[in-house]
Amino acid sequence: MATGRSLAAVYYARASRTVPLRAGAWRPRAVAVAAAGEPASEHVRRLVAEFDPAVPLDSAVTPPSGWYTDPGFLQLELDRVFLRGWQAVGHIWQVKNPNDFFTGRLGNVEFVICRDANGKLHAFHNVCRHHASLLACGSGQKTCFQCPYHGWTYGLDGTLLKATRISGIKSFNKNDFGLIPIKVATWGPFVLVRFDDESTEDNVYDAVGNEWLGSASDLLGTNGIDTSLPHICRREYIINCNWKVFCDNYLDGGYHVPYAHGALASGLQLQSYETLTYERVSVQRCESAPAEPDDFDRLGTKALYAFVYPNFMINRYGPWMDTNLAVPLDSTRCKVVFDYFLDKSLLDDQSFIEKSLKDSEQVQIEDIALCEGVQRGLESPAYSVGRYAPSVEMAMHHFHCLIHGNLSG
Ligand code: FES
Ligand SMILES: [Fe+2]
Repeated sequence: MATGRSLAAVYYARASRTVPLRAGAWRPRAVAVAAAGEPASEHVRRLVAEFDPAVPLDSAVTPPSGWYTDPGFLQLELDRVFLRGWQAVGHIWQVKNPNDFFTGRLGNVEFVICRDANGKLHAFHNVCRHHASLLACGSGQKTCFQCPYHGWTYGLDGTLLKATRISGIKSFNKNDFGLIPIKVATWGPFVLVRFDDESTEDNVYDAVGNEWLGSASDLLGTNGIDTSLPHICRREYIINCNWKVFCDNYLDGGYHVPYAHGALASGLQLQSYETLTYERVSVQRCESAPAEPDDFDRLGTKALYAFVYPNFMINRYGPWMDTNLAVPLDSTRCKVVFDYFLDKSLLDDQSFIEKSLKDSEQVQIEDIALCEGVQRGLESPAYSVGRYAPSVEMAMHHFHCLIHGNLSG
């Protein structure tokens, strides 16, 4: 593992081991941390240190607003939080069949996940080795990736199959110009990648659960995550807030529910809310209010909300599972991807599905308004730090301590 090294160092090491760095060989672009007035590293280091994870929850102050507004801080998060360790990026249903693919972006890293004709899963940097054009776009099915710029063509195993019009080129070996691989694995219905691992094995099915979820792996494997649930739909929201504002909102132990989600609050027994924290996971659990006979019951008897650091949320309630992925776009904007899964027995119940999705959408609309309001408050000169409500906001504090640990290491 190369967890203690910068991403750029990993790629340089990989490139120099497999390909001498020469004209045409792939070179990474270093993560640029730029801020006006002072060296960004100093400025960001000071911001990181303004939060003290050693202070107990009941006395702690929250991270300063700069954690949520400063572009240099986000660059450091991308390098230290997102580009290290396993990251959830999608679902098995997106690459279920041979030749399926989907693309994504995390910071400045463009990636494509695909399943080759033999059924093997791969992940690559989605960047053409000729002149850096993005290669694949969106999602779908392809038997090869043909670059839209000059037609270089790659197999779904990353091999460069055809370099067009290169007659006369010297010192060029097609084998040196395959797509740059990324480590990929699956856990349950989820697709994970890690950008900082240079080992050559490309799937670690057995070990990844523990590496990704730590000691919460068993709990989630038995209580929460059901690989058999069919995918119903995906909803995406662009929210004008830092990605952590969305996570904080999720991690407040139901604190905001009675004030902001009247309809949802009536379906939950909020006094039963409990929060468990693990290494990189926190789990919030809540009983649902008993439904009247023949009543619409989207929530079932128990709700479980699992947060997998840094940005993935798995929600299990009644016959539903949904997942939320909060992807930073810039320091004050994020994209949140919702995927809904439902027990097979209800697949034909269109009115139940529509009503459930409508209720869920209402909660998202309410949360978006809250998150965007918080972001504007964080940008106001009136605010610097806040406090935690100790009996409910422990998962949020846990999240902030994990970020601090990554950024100060
Ligand atoms: S950039 Fe892809 S073929 Fe030229
Ligand atoms: Fe909410």
